Amino acid sequence: MAEAVDLVVFGASGDLTRRKILPSLGRVVSREGQPVRVIGAGRTHQSTADFRAMVKETSQSERLSASAEWVQLDYSDPATFTRLKDDVTGARTVIFYLATPPETFGDILAGLTLSGLATKADATRRIVVEKPLGHNLPSAHRINAQLAEAFDEEQIFRIDHYLAKDTVQNVMALRFSNSLFEPVWNRTLIETILITVAEDEGIGKRAGYYDQTGAVRDIIQNHVLQLLALITMEPPTTFDADYVRRAKRAALRAMLPLDPGMAVRGQYEGYLDEDGVAPDSRRETFAAMRVSIDNWRWDGVPIFVRTGKALRRRVTEVVIKLRDAPMLRIAGRRQRGIATLIVIRIQPDEGITIRIGAKRPGTRFEMVPAGMRLDYAHLTKAALPDAYENVLSEVLAGGNTAFPGAEEIELAWEIVDPLVRAWESEGHPESYPRGSWGPHAADDLVATGAGGRWIVSGDEPGTS
Ligand code: BG6
Repeated sequence: MAEAVDLVVFGASGDLTRRKILPSLGRVVSREGQPVRVIGAGRTHQSTADFRAMVKETSQSERLSASAEWVQLDYSDPATFTRLKDDVTGARTVIFYLATPPETFGDILAGLTLSGLATKADATRRIVVEKPLGHNLPSAHRINAQLAEAFDEEQIFRIDHYLAKDTVQNVMALRFSNSLFEPVWNRTLIETILITVAEDEGIGKRAGYYDQTGAVRDIIQNHVLQLLALITMEPPTTFDADYVRRAKRAALRAMLPLDPGMAVRGQYEGYLDEDGVAPDSRRETFAAMRVSIDNWRWDGVPIFVRTGKALRRRVTEVVIKLRDAPMLRIAGRRQRGIATLIVIRIQPDEGITIRIGAKRPGTRFEMVPAGMRLDYAHLTKAALPDAYENVLSEVLAGGNTAFPGAEEIELAWEIVDPLVRAWESEGHPESYPRGSWGPHAADDLVATGAGGRWIVSGDEPGTS
């Protein structure tokens, strides 16, 4: 029988709790049957009955709702944390989930420590924190230091929901459980790596957060660099969290700080009219850049990444382009071989496509691009779990492979900080129409590398 857990959610009346945490928790609990009691903790005045109604509506779980409790706290008054202490029972695993803005972390951690709720070196006490972890290296360092005062590293779960996506975890399976890929996975045969994290929607109602944050801090610093670390890291000694983190750290350490001269920023047309956006905001909603990895395996390989809101369509994808095969002489004509592409589609239509050259069926000897595709959803009869379900399942079980460690977060800030700083003092970003692939300058940027142009499957022959 899985252990009984008290899940204390700070910021439980907030949007994240309603939209992501409780619905996913409802599904996890109904699937795994783990006894979980949700304790909402926050500044809002409300009764436990009101909170239970909210839990029921969002989680669709009678069981979660029947046992849920609401504890009102003043984050800056540690004395009020004793109310919480009276509520959590000694023998259970207690998980503290901070679904609150990072400015509150210091107070909440102090309250947990002073009230004796947080105890170091005790695996039955865990803490979960949401991004953003800081807005630059010094602030991230401060948050990590605050966390480390109250908890040991093994007790800390920093969420990067991308790492919990099934298809992101599958990157490791693909690379290290097949002898096909590893021999080509280096500068000798790979010509370029392209990563696209595109969203078709604008910022919606999140101006308060987004207009302070922008595309680099929102997506590149965390999701993209984590994904790139998994794509480019050395094989870990084992797949235990500790070794995977070591391998990712080494990969991140080899990435050079981003060069503003090799980066493009954009803002979608109409962004300034979004509710809550400053009328003269220079915040970027699109960012593209070259990443250089300064190590033996990747030296000189151009890697380009881009992300943006209000783009042509929603797609997250890694495209690995192998060098062209040497020329072929067919019927007296010299032809180039077709470049092999390995496309890892993180979402939607999760899967892997290998685009190769094949003979066009028929009497003439002619090459055509052709795709070999693994449709990830076909590996299971069930629906793919949502990333938040995977996050919660891991936290409840106490495993932390899918969470970045303290140092990874800081290394990633070291990589992006020079670019973010340079952009703070630049003029207005280039505008791009909604529904496009971003500013033209992003195409010029990629044209400087051997890859030549952005590639997304579907648009590319042999990859649909
Ligand atoms: C979040 C960002 O981390 O990831 C959002 O803050 C973004 O701006 C979201 O929309 C994208 O996540 P997903 O899982 O939809 O790709």
